[in-house]
Amino acid sequence: MNFTFKPLSELSSETAIFLISEPASLPKTLVDLDRHNHIANAIKADRAFGGKTGQMVTVLAPHGFQQKQVIILCIGKTIEATNLTVQSAGGALASKLNQMKISEADLVIDTAEEFKVDLAINLAIGIKLKNYAFNKHYVAKKEEHELTLAKVNILSTSKNETAFAQQEAILNGVIVTRNLVSEPPNNLFPISFAEECEKLKAFGVKVTVLNKEDLQALRMGALLGVAQGSANEPRVVIMEWHGNNSRPDEVTALVGKGVTFDSGGINLKPSQGVADMKCDMGGAGVVTGAVMALASRKAKANVIGAIGLVENMPSGTAQRPSDVVVSMSGQTIEVDNTDAEGRLVLADVMWYVQEQYKPKNLIDLATLTGAIVIALGDYYAGLFSNSDELARNLCAAADKVGEQIWRLPLHDFYDKQINSDTADIKNTGQSGRGAGSTTAAQFLKRFVKDCAWAHLDIAGVTWTKHGNDICPKGATGFGVRLLNQYIMDNIERNA
Ligand code: BES
Ligand code: MN
Ligand code: ZN
Repeated sequence: MNFTFKPLSELSSETAIFLISEPASLPKTLVDLDRHNHIANAIKADRAFGGKTGQMVTVLAPHGFQQKQVIILCIGKTIEATNLTVQSAGGALASKLNQMKISEADLVIDTAEEFKVDLAINLAIGIKLKNYAFNKHYVAKKEEHELTLAKVNILSTSKNETAFAQQEAILNGVIVTRNLVSEPPNNLFPISFAEECEKLKAFGVKVTVLNKEDLQALRMGALLGVAQGSANEPRVVIMEWHGNNSRPDEVTALVGKGVTFDSGGINLKPSQGVADMKCDMGGAGVVTGAVMALASRKAKANVIGAIGLVENMPSGTAQRPSDVVVSMSGQTIEVDNTDAEGRLVLADVMWYVQEQYKPKNLIDLATLTGAIVIALGDYYAGLFSNSDELARNLCAAADKVGEQIWRLPLHDFYDKQINSDTADIKNTGQSGRGAGSTTAAQFLKRFVKDCAWAHLDIAGVTWTKHGNDICPKGATGFGVRLLNQYIMDNIERNA
């Protein structure tokens, strides 16, 4: 969808939206138009309209208006409005406009100076994030699932184009991630995923695809073990964005788990819920979307995105529980459970990235454990880190964009639980299902050399069953805006 930015005088669409911050007073522009108090009375008559953020009143435009209808959107109290509450109001508006089958609307912002937050940008963010549908696979019911909203004209006194262009780059990254996560696994498998990554070349990203022979030559035994049960060959994709040539060795690495389908392998998952495992490439999806966002807004940072793409399937060639594999690091791993495959994939990709690029910071993202869903549900992602500073900076970025993360502990006590009787490490913890997300993180930590490392377990937040204020039900793209904000505030600021 498109946004245009125009001066206040250029009202032209059939639908106009006016903002109201308290239920009492109408915005200036509307007072001028509403000479006979039609709209003011309609608002008073609607007893349900209490002035809560995102609430709306729709009024058929009275005689004399050039519009057909006027929507009054409440954006809460001036002093209480934040970026996130205004984004929510934008999301609510997008839903409403689609329900009303509206394709174009004028959004009038003439109260901006009373607010500390940028209304235009945040409303646009909310609208664009909520105005998303993964509808490419509808054929017979195509129209039913089409979004109508295609254009919003933002009418205001300030110039917002450049600020929004930056945001649009980021939001397009979120959309790429949502599309990847939504795509069914018969279409999105390692080779086709890698092809999607190649499209980032258009943004100046260097894309390298490592095929099975390359991975064998690199001795990525842990990743290859997971892949060996599938007819779909694995791939590792490296996406490099070099946006700061003055400090070429200051590198941030983003590593993503890209299990395009996780059946569990020989430790086959129960049939209920296994279909959800198409989103087990969520981490890789976020890394891809984030690198695209950074490149497309030409971020002054050097970022390496690396994703391990495999399909975890049971078959005659699949790895067995109790197999021992040799990881690229040289450490041997007892595969106690073939369903704990994500950590095996990440171990080799993380090692490769550290050997190859010597990053200062390494952030991995993975739909790694069911345990994190039990602990945090679908709102907070889990954070594990060996660096208080990196953890703090990620939490600060998370707060800003409303993609919340909560830090959980790492400790030698948990590390001991992944010692194996037959190999250097095993891929499950010892205490039944206790602390499953932490033992998974401890496993990853054994493959961290000497960089600041953070692990985000996004198993709960990658997909929303019911949708939220700024995301329809389905893939969320959680992580793209967080990573972008982290890089903006910590890496680019020091550039
Ligand atoms: N991909 C799953 C984790 C997952 C669960 C993601 C629910 C999204 C929603 C992961 O590979 C897995 O199966 N983990 C196991 C680990 C266990 C076998 C040690 C789990 O969490 O049950
Ligand atoms: Mn699994
Ligand atoms: Zn998995």
